[in-house]
Amino acid sequence: MLEAGGISPLAGRRIVLGVSAGIAAYKAVEICRRMVDAGAFVSPVLTEDALRFVGAVTFSALASEPARTSLHEGGETIPHTRLGQRADLIVIAPATANILAKQAAGIADDLLTATLLATRAPVLVAPAMHTEMWEHPSVQENLATLRRRGVFVCEPESGRLAGGDEGEGRLADPSRIIAAAEEILSRGRDLSGLRIVVTAGGTREAIDPVRFIGNRSSGKMGHAIAQVASTRGAAVTLITTSSIPVGAGIEVVSVTTAEEMRLAVDERFSDASVVVMAAAVADFRPKVVASEKIKKHSGAPEIILEPTPDILSGLGQRKTHQILVGFAAETENLEEYARAKMEAKRVDIMVANDVSDPEAGFEVPTNRAILLDSMGSHTRTPLMSKMSLAEVILDRVAVRLGRANNRESQ
Ligand code: PMT
Repeated sequence: MLEAGGISPLAGRRIVLGVSAGIAAYKAVEICRRMVDAGAFVSPVLTEDALRFVGAVTFSALASEPARTSLHEGGETIPHTRLGQRADLIVIAPATANILAKQAAGIADDLLTATLLATRAPVLVAPAMHTEMWEHPSVQENLATLRRRGVFVCEPESGRLAGGDEGEGRLADPSRIIAAAEEILSRGRDLSGLRIVVTAGGTREAIDPVRFIGNRSSGKMGHAIAQVASTRGAAVTLITTSSIPVGAGIEVVSVTTAEEMRLAVDERFSDASVVVMAAAVADFRPKVVASEKIKKHSGAPEIILEPTPDILSGLGQRKTHQILVGFAAETENLEEYARAKMEAKRVDIMVANDVSDPEAGFEVPTNRAILLDSMGSHTRTPLMSKMSLAEVILDRVAVRLGRANNRESQ
């Protein structure tokens, strides 16, 4: 992807290119060359084990400055903080299972891992490893942790691996890695200056001190939106029932019930530019909450329900300048029901997800959706991670706010 006039978004940007050990390390030479050709200032950092596969001298010859391999070389006292602070982007290609594990755990025992801790720049990892390692739950869990923190992942491809094996885990083609780096840098912090309120998780409505009416929402979708919005520069308040950790810089307001969520959202509404209602708010709650635990021997209780406040409808009535993003959780007639909700609740963008799909909706790390825009556009996404769907939703928000310097406008 090139900006108008053919200038790459990499031009003039400082990129730390981390290279960890693996047969694919030789492809990092090509990545380095292409970045430099695009006008980037590239600082290569190789792990000690990467040197078994490629030579530092090759990178030094191609990059913008000599390759570094250690915390203790070249007379610099604190190369890791200097590199991390100055970087516009850190790209790790190839990223081994080992480096992903260290990154997820916050281990900083060499120059590359220390640089990863000492940066606020976006990080793109391009994993490469054997299929068994790639599919191992520990690798996938580390990747999920990294994604949750806003790390971008250029997924590996299927194909020939070291030792003549075939399967998934082959480093993405250098052109895909360059395109991903360009996309991150071109999107940049397109939401800076905006206040975004995101709700997440399922509310719990008490029956008695130990029981409640709830739903299956884990908070993953809403937390992903909060994380991506923050990475893209927005000031984010996350009003949530979930305890999934989010990055520093996000204001987290913990709530339990629909009424608590309503109060927290309403309080922040006038200052917000965007509100994203990803929470699964209970529609009904017990009219009376028993003050003591209801005893089994008293027989099955009759619980009378009353409607909870419809937070989104209330916002739709009051909105002035705000962009409202709603979610529709449906099990049938997805688009029709979602469109009806969009109109009834005066929502600007409605994200319709089919919660009867085992790969989408509640609890799972993936989702697929139809994005309806009250201005008329209509986008159907494939199955993707919730972080990726968050990017797509926020791209649409950026379009509505006239801030689209990203893929939708190009
Ligand atoms: O949390 P996860 O496990 O990751 O799952 C994600 C999700 C499936 C919960 C999410 O993608 C989703 O669909 N969230 C909306 C769930 C929902 O409540 O849908 P709904 O169709 O019942 O409500 C429509 C909209 O009105 C929603 O934006 C909802 O937040 C809002 N609403 C609903 C009821 C209510 N009393 N007040 C509201 O504001």
